[in-house]
Amino acid sequence: QHNFIIAIDGYSACGKSTVAKLLASKLNFLFVDSGALYRAVTLFFIENNVESADPYTIQESLNRITLAQTADGLETLTFLNERDVSSVIRQMEVSNRVSKVSALREVRQFIVNKLQEIGRSQNLIMDGRDIGTVVFPNAHLKIFMDARPEVRARRRYAELLAKGEHISLSEIMDNLLLRDRQDTTREESPLVQAHDAYYVDTSDLTEEEVLAVIATRYGEVA
Ligand code: C5P
Repeated sequence: QHNFIIAIDGYSACGKSTVAKLLASKLNFLFVDSGALYRAVTLFFIENNVESADPYTIQESLNRITLAQTADGLETLTFLNERDVSSVIRQMEVSNRVSKVSALREVRQFIVNKLQEIGRSQNLIMDGRDIGTVVFPNAHLKIFMDARPEVRARRRYAELLAKGEHISLSEIMDNLLLRDRQDTTREESPLVQAHDAYYVDTSDLTEEEVLAVIATRYGEVA
């Protein structure tokens, strides 16, 4: 693979995408938010009442979906069948359902194909849960991000509040822990640290500090 790939995996709300975006703009790499694609598929399932786990029904639904993501400065836009769903996919209803939907084999295959296609031709930073293990096992740099649950919940709370969403800290905490549990215990490509990933605990670091740690690591391998 001639293009450079940085894979950032880890638990929910560790600050993966914030840092990935900053680093991408610094290195002039494309940033890809894989979680947003799982969220977009989840939104489609919610809006079209796809409840069944029957593989045929799931596949038939996926055949009606086109996904796209574009970068606009530090902003990433996600499109579901050409409609900009960037903000709706952050709502609690989607957050509460996404880990169930992304545990489905057909859904994973659909999105992994899409991500690998994007990664064929350009330098990029992709964040998610299985990027360094499944999507790009040969990524040039792999980071695994972690943070204490209280820290993650507080950060997500502040983020949602800034967007005008009033969700209690405990509801956010419950959602993060539930997603972590579902993401780490599912059968299909569970969230796990790749053996060659560099572990970063961001609990007591600022965004700039996390960025500096990863940039240093990049400097060592680039
Ligand atoms: O990254 P974000 O928190 O937006 O991801 C939402 C959900 O999508 C995760 O909790 C996980 O269930 C799923 N996901 C995944 N594999 C990825 C990225 C996200 O299963 N690579």
